[in-house]
Amino acid sequence: MSEREVLTPVLTKRWLSPEAWKISVYERLDGYEGLRKAIKAHPDDLIQLVKDSGLRGRGGAGFPTGLKWGFIPQGDGKPHYLVVNADEGEPGTCKDLPYMMADPHGLIEGIVIASYAIRANFAAIYIRGEAVHAARRLRNAVNEAYARGYLGRNILGSGFDLELVVHSGAGAYICGEETALLDSLEGYRGQPRLKPPFPAVAGLYGGPTVVNNVETIASVPYIVLGGAEWWKTMGTEKSPGPKIYSISGRVKRPGQYECTMGTTLRELLELAGGMKDGHELRFWTPGGSSTPLFTDEHVDVPLDFEGAAAAGSMLGTTAIQVFSDKDDPVYATYRWIAFYAHESCGKCTPCREGNYWMVQVLRRILSGQGTKADLDTLSDTCDNIFGRSFCALGDGATSPVLSSLKYFRDDYLDYIEGRKAPYFSAEQAALA
Ligand code: NAI
Ligand code: SF4
Repeated sequence: MSEREVLTPVLTKRWLSPEAWKISVYERLDGYEGLRKAIKAHPDDLIQLVKDSGLRGRGGAGFPTGLKWGFIPQGDGKPHYLVVNADEGEPGTCKDLPYMMADPHGLIEGIVIASYAIRANFAAIYIRGEAVHAARRLRNAVNEAYARGYLGRNILGSGFDLELVVHSGAGAYICGEETALLDSLEGYRGQPRLKPPFPAVAGLYGGPTVVNNVETIASVPYIVLGGAEWWKTMGTEKSPGPKIYSISGRVKRPGQYECTMGTTLRELLELAGGMKDGHELRFWTPGGSSTPLFTDEHVDVPLDFEGAAAAGSMLGTTAIQVFSDKDDPVYATYRWIAFYAHESCGKCTPCREGNYWMVQVLRRILSGQGTKADLDTLSDTCDNIFGRSFCALGDGATSPVLSSLKYFRDDYLDYIEGRKAPYFSAEQAALA
């Protein structure tokens, strides 16, 4: 076993309590205590507390949360908004949906505190369309919170008002990009907006808007109750706090494991029961397919924002997809790129065309019709997508291609030089 204790059930502490999604149970388990404390504080002090805690965005980018809240101009006379990004769609990512199923009031409590801090009287949860069960559970919880005076007018007698709506998207991955999400919420086709201005300056309906991920907002009541110093006792200096890692693939016990930031794959594999029998670790994603692949050489990389970056990848959404010696990195890359090509919103040429062409090239390779020049074409296409795309979707799509070429070039050559049986027939490749 690992020598240090990495499991930290903070956000997940109620997950195993029966019916913790009901407000009566939630209240019995310290629910809404953070809000009772927060509502007595000055909003500026809450922003400072979140700054002091070092909390960083849990949606993937790791932007400092308190800093983002602090960007909201005060005394501007404009309506402010809080929008929770619950459009969890990054391949392999499964932390926000189970959180919302298990503990919807934890999110609502965080929303009320965050809205109070940034002086927003309207908040929305944008949840992905396929997540019908979680949306239903959230709506029930919102109704319960209104009935108990945690939402609506004069919350807990404080004079603070907040309306909260749950809005279901229609299943487009791009609507997880914060500005596409805002367009979608306003009723338009979801496509990214030019940044700057960032949403903190001009967001929903042009008003100052904080867009935060579910896990980020759910952390807030705990920081209010436990304090910034306690939060910083977990994790690393620059990436403090606990983190929900979701592990899928060739492990014995896939699922969500809440651990201190900086936990390694070696430690997570122990928690997940190890690799499935007969499987040897070969490659894995540290944070979904938009983050460059890691291999069996990276099992001791600390999975925090700095550690993952220093080892050549990114923390992303901490969606760890584990692949073994029985899996094919070329085919996995093809599946990911097919996903990005399908989900590209089409607004900019590098992403729209580049991903389409990479799918064709990968199918050609997988059908045994590829050439070595195709590998250069893939790298060159990535060069023309990365940094030239309008939003992070395009950049992210280059990650599996470039990292699989870096670590698994021989697997590509096996198809090209006929050492491996084609995955597709020539006819199937032509149909792409
Ligand atoms: P980003 O780094 O552009 O922005 C992060 C956040 O900080 C945004 O809310 C942005 O508005 C804010 N921000 C950045 N600079 C700012 C400034 N100067 N002033 C005010 N606000 C500022 O990253 P982005 O595009 O929001 O997210 C990319 C990440 O999303 C990727 O790292 C990926 O891991 C993750 N992702 C997560 C998915 C999921 O399902 N959770 C799906 C796809 C990607
Ligand atoms: Fe749309 Fe892709 Fe361009 Fe983003 S990078 S705006 S998803 S076409």
